[in-house]
Order: sequence, then C-alpha cells, then structure tokens
Amino acid sequence: ASTRDLYRPRLHYTCAQNWLNDPNGLVYHEGVYHLFYQHNPFGTGWGNMSWGHATSTDLLTWTERPVAILCDEEEQIFSGSAVVDEGNTAGFGGPGTTPLVAIYTSAYSEASARPRIQAQSLAYSLDGGETWTKHSGNPVLDRGSENFRDPKVFRYDSPTGPYWVMVAVEATEQRVLLHKSSNLIDWEYLSDFTADGPDDILWECPDLFELAIDGDLTRTAWVLIVSVNPGGVAGGSGTRYFIGTFDGERFIEEPSAASGAGTADDGGRQCGMSGPLGGGLRGSWLDWGRDYYAAVSFSGLPYRRVMIGWMSNWDYANSTPTEGWRSAMALPREISLRTVDGRVRLAQSPIAPEATRTTDASDAVGRPLSARRTHLASMPRGSACRVRLTAPAPARGTFGLVFGAGGSEGACVTVDAAARAIRLDRTASGVVDFHELFPSVEHAPLDLLDGRIQLEIYVDACSVEVFAQGGLSTITDLVFPQGEPTSIEFFASSDVTVDELEVAVLG
Ligand code: FRU
Repeated sequence: ASTRDLYRPRLHYTCAQNWLNDPNGLVYHEGVYHLFYQHNPFGTGWGNMSWGHATSTDLLTWTERPVAILCDEEEQIFSGSAVVDEGNTAGFGGPGTTPLVAIYTSAYSEASARPRIQAQSLAYSLDGGETWTKHSGNPVLDRGSENFRDPKVFRYDSPTGPYWVMVAVEATEQRVLLHKSSNLIDWEYLSDFTADGPDDILWECPDLFELAIDGDLTRTAWVLIVSVNPGGVAGGSGTRYFIGTFDGERFIEEPSAASGAGTADDGGRQCGMSGPLGGGLRGSWLDWGRDYYAAVSFSGLPYRRVMIGWMSNWDYANSTPTEGWRSAMALPREISLRTVDGRVRLAQSPIAPEATRTTDASDAVGRPLSARRTHLASMPRGSACRVRLTAPAPARGTFGLVFGAGGSEGACVTVDAAARAIRLDRTASGVVDFHELFPSVEHAPLDLLDGRIQLEIYVDACSVEVFAQGGLSTITDLVFPQGEPTSIEFFASSDVTVDELEVAVLG
C-alpha cells in the first residue's frame, strides 16, 4: 500500500474511487440502511454531481452499490432525502410494491431549459433502492431560484391526518422554507425560518425532527438542523441546531428550552472562541470541529434518530492528500435530547464496532499522573481505535491525550476543566501543508457534570472524533499523520487521577 492508502479509514465510509460529499437519502427499509451521497463518478474533485449508494445492515460496515442517480447534460443531482412511500401516495408503486422515493435538487445546467435554476425533483425505486427512475413531471417544486436546494422530507402526523413536510433552503438568503404535500408531487408553501448570523454565507442541508426529552416519550421537542458555509464555529463549514416546537406549519425556536447557548457563551469567553456562538448567537453547534458538515438523519427509523455527516470542510475539501478517492463520512451518531442545568441539549453517541482487543492501560488508572507523558499504547499506522477516559475534574491545570508518532508529530486533545473548555490541536498532526486553512485548533465548551470528565475518542486512519460528557460536545477533525506507528500518550500539567482509561483496537 502506498503511504497515502494508509489514510483510507477502517470504520468510516468511503467510496472505492472518486469524490464524495454530503450524505443524501438516508433511509432504513426492510432491514437495510441506505446511504446515498453526493458523488463524482468521474473524478476525485467536486463535479458531475450524482447520487452514489451504499448499503448496510448494521450501520458499521457498508457495501458500495452502483451509482443510483447519474447526472446528465441537463442536470446535476444535488443533495436531498428519501422516504418509504408506504401508502403509495405519489402513485409510483405497482400492486404489492412499496416505492422508495428520492426527493433531490435538480441543479440545471446552462444548456438546459432552465439555465442555472435549482428546483426539487423526484425519482423512485421499486427494487429496494438498487435502480431509480426519474419522475416524468420533474421538477415538482420550482421557485425560479438559483439557490433553492437540499430538500429533506418527512411524514407528519397531524390531528386531521398525515402529510409530507419538506424543509429546504434558499441558501443565499439564510432561510429554511417549509412546504407540505399529500402526494410528494404538489407542494404548498407553509412558512419559513431564519435566525441571526452573517448574511453573506450559505445555509444548506436542513433537517427537522421530533425527539423525546430525557427519553420520556410524553415530552418532546423539535430539532432544526442547518449547515452553514462559511461561518462555522471552527471556520468554514459547520452545522448549527435549534430546539423548539413544530405545529405542522411553522418551526418556532424556544431559546429558553434550548440550546446550550449559555454554556457555549461561557466556553467561548473562557477559551477565546471567535466563532459566532461565542458572541451569543442563538442555537448551538452540532459539532465544534472543522470537519462535520451537511449532517442529516435517517427516515424510516421510528424509534431512533441517527445522523451521518460529511467529514470535511469546503475550505479545503478538494485538496486533502488522498489518492484515487476523496472524503469520508463521519461515524453515524445516535441523537438524543437531555436536560442539563434546566436547558434541553442535544447529545450524540457514536455507532461503532465492538473492540477486537483492549490494550491494558490499567497501570495508569488510580494513581496520580502528573507533569509528564505516559505512553499508553502503540498501533500500526492506519488502524482504528477508541480511547475512553473518566476522571474527576482537576481544579487546575490541563490534561489530555496525544495521538502521534511519539516525537513532535501528534494530534492533541486537551481538557481545561477550570476554563470549562476542551481543545483539539491538529497543527502538528502530520501533513498539514496541503492547504493554508488546514492547520487549526478547535475549541468546545465542556459542561462539568457532577464535577467529572468523561471522554470517548475515536481515531481512524485520517480522523479524530471527540465525544465529551456523553456527547454533549463533540469535535470532529481530519488528520493526516506521517509517523509510524501511532502512539497514544496521556499527559497532565498537574496531578490527575483517572478512574478509567481504556484503549481499544476497533479495526
Ligand atoms: C452542501 C452542498 C449542498 C448541495 C451539494 C452539492 O455541501 O453545497 O447545498 O446540494 O453540496 O454537491
């Protein structure tokens, strides 16, 4: 394998060849998870946008399928969603077949009958997602706009019966538009949602769903997801969320219920955060790293909410140093709402395989570790691992983990409990010079729950994903290490006694 093949993740989805960006059409149907995605079948850079396709029965391992919906001279197939049309409301199904319907953005070419327009279109599959036919009446929703895109459709149960709801963006106007339909074909405008923030950025890839609060199905809130580019908290692309209510027509943010903004403010001040939430923006960030964008959730999973995000950033996505393929999905994450200090917050839990082997780091547990580096484990370049750590929050000083080559190369996760902040520094993580915007240090707020710190970190061939405090804060960053092997070290600037410290090999 060439050095660069060592960047091919073990746990994270990549396509065998060529370019990938946003997850699309996430749908669970008859025991199979479908992951469609923005894909260039003809090159390793963005272009010729089509829907690639992969399937899984467990969200852990994926099988790449033939390209599902291919671009042509008329249109590129931009982002969108898919639903199981149980009631055959659109009429695409024959007797005894339940159609899958994809709702995507037709990005019309200059040469087409609708030059430069972006409008919403349908395609359907009668063979469980393998082959797709475009609806002859496309587009089904055209506002004559050049930036109307990324439809996410869900079934809404109103007191007077169910209907389809679409959230989509007017990207350059920073607006999420809601429409409704009985048949996925005829759409009626309902409302739109906007929020504070810069007005020279794009809003993309919205999602809207209902979740139980603290697992109590009688108390729910609605979560609105919006990806913003640029203007992300760590620079470039990032994903915001808002918590509120949805009455079948309109999403209303409830800042009192939501959203960690207070905590984010604190974290922002303490760790010198320059991102907008540090300045008191509404809502919160789904992830505080550089590489978590366009995250959307599965349809067809009634009792769970699972999201997948694209693990890159438009600042440098086209320049990452891989060969023959480019970009991965982040690990799927199960989403829940938790009340913390009287506020409803979103928490994320990664979906990852069982450990094949656990490295004994127990001699580091239960005794004070201080002022030095403690070597925990070494693993072959390109392998995947998980580190779990719990410790009482030290009153002063910092501690953390370095994933590196033992010398000066490493990606560094630092917990600063006194400042209620967690950092991920990738400035010396290996190959960083392929783009001037790549070297970076990310900051996330750290809630001190019961005065304790809990970290779960996933490192794969080219990524670090940090889940802090049960997933109340996450940081996702790409890294391109050069050293061999990957060593994992613990460091502390003053005494820290860890209760649990486990390194597990995952692949
Ligand atoms: C987000 C995005 C979407 C668009 C797609 C095109 O990353 O810009 O708004 O539909 O990518 O590939």
